Amino acid sequence: MKNICVLGAGYVGLVTGACFADLGNKVICLDIDESKIEALNRGDVPIYEPGLAEVLLRNVRSRRLNFSTSYEDALKTAEFVFIAVGTPSGVDGEADLQYVRMAAKSIAKVMDHPLIIINKSTVPVGTGDWVADIIKKHQEEPIPFWVVSNPEFLREGSAIHDFMNPDRVVLGSLHHEAAEKVAQLHLPLRTTIQITDLRTAEMIKYASNAFLATRISFINEIATICERLGADVKEVAVGMGYDKRIGPAFLDAGLGFGGSCFPKDVRALEHMALIHDAHPQLLRAVLDINRHQRRQVVVKLRQMLGGLNERRVGLLGLSFKPNTDDMREAPAVDIARQLHREGAYVQAYDPVSGEIAARILPDIRLAESVYEVAKDADALVVVTEWNEFRHLDMERIRRNMAGKVLLDGRNIWDPEEMAGLGFVYSGVGRGVNMNSSDREGDLS
Ligand code: UDX
Repeated sequence: MKNICVLGAGYVGLVTGACFADLGNKVICLDIDESKIEALNRGDVPIYEPGLAEVLLRNVRSRRLNFSTSYEDALKTAEFVFIAVGTPSGVDGEADLQYVRMAAKSIAKVMDHPLIIINKSTVPVGTGDWVADIIKKHQEEPIPFWVVSNPEFLREGSAIHDFMNPDRVVLGSLHHEAAEKVAQLHLPLRTTIQITDLRTAEMIKYASNAFLATRISFINEIATICERLGADVKEVAVGMGYDKRIGPAFLDAGLGFGGSCFPKDVRALEHMALIHDAHPQLLRAVLDINRHQRRQVVVKLRQMLGGLNERRVGLLGLSFKPNTDDMREAPAVDIARQLHREGAYVQAYDPVSGEIAARILPDIRLAESVYEVAKDADALVVVTEWNEFRHLDMERIRRNMAGKVLLDGRNIWDPEEMAGLGFVYSGVGRGVNMNSSDREGDLS
């Protein structure tokens, strides 16, 4: 059992704290937000993440997990301090490090024994060195400490599973011994542990996220070309995925990526490249294609409905992906706002994001079910591929709608089946309009 302090009771901090406690360690999670800590002490979990509440409660009850707003309490017995505070996008896409700076200063002022300080927040390459400088500068007397970078690769919706079953753990430090000690903490996870230097570890996080975002924009560009040429991108992705060098993951064409990581990290990497005189052409294209996917939905709807003014458009799903209520950088936000600007009446249903949506999209009407959204709608758009949308009574939906347009932004339905039910169906990259007899005719 080790004593661990986690700074930041946000998404990454709570999952990290809860999971380390579950592995048998004694953990204190600190946050400067008193209302959040009060809620956690009452047993309320401030974010929607499957399985998190159970792990938190189990470890609070067994007294392995505590919450505090006091640095003195949190650092008193700690050997390891994880920094897991937010790093939002600042101006120009650059990561805003104010919370990391505050955490480093507070550690420096309060620490009274040696500490291993592990940075989990996604920070620009070089931040580990900067954190070490801040701590040195603000310490009243020199007490040894070692900085380690340990980027997180958690996906929202499966964060607990991802923490407990990682593909790898990356640790970067100028002090091999410190990294080795952090490696020991991760041994129960039985996974590959890569120990490298600080800057390389920081870069691994950006490069991994940028690569995954690139795969998504790549398949979305192929989707656009498929639509023009009459090929089906879903089948294309399956065929590509059989090649072991390519693999099947992250090849789902659709409305592109959103969330708290991919857009922010690609922009931050682009910014780092620019200020160091590199030319991040590929990263720019990745972001460009991602924006295009959102704009294209509105263009398609405008064409299919013959204009948007006073049309009723129903959105299915609002969160940036299924199994989360997170709407940060969600395609739904841009799409709903643009439709509203063009005079459409927008109504939407999402299984869990309703409360958040009511705040950030005050102009749209929120419904209690898909069937309510469909009622009298001229068009329906699947924005997020929640599982429940795959098992709907599509005949009933078709009957209740005023129009027939079905825009499947996540390719969850079969185009022919939907056409058979009377919908005017359009997916993303599913160029199935060129019928087979035409193609055979070409050959003869
Ligand atoms: C991501 C990374 O996966 C994780 O390792 C990192 O630490 C944080 O960022 P997350 O943002 O939770 O995790 O979501 P993820 O499941 O990776 O999906 C990201 C976005 O890409 C979603 O908007 C999703 O809809 C989109 N996506 C994903 C696609 O459009 N197509 C795909 O094939 C896969």
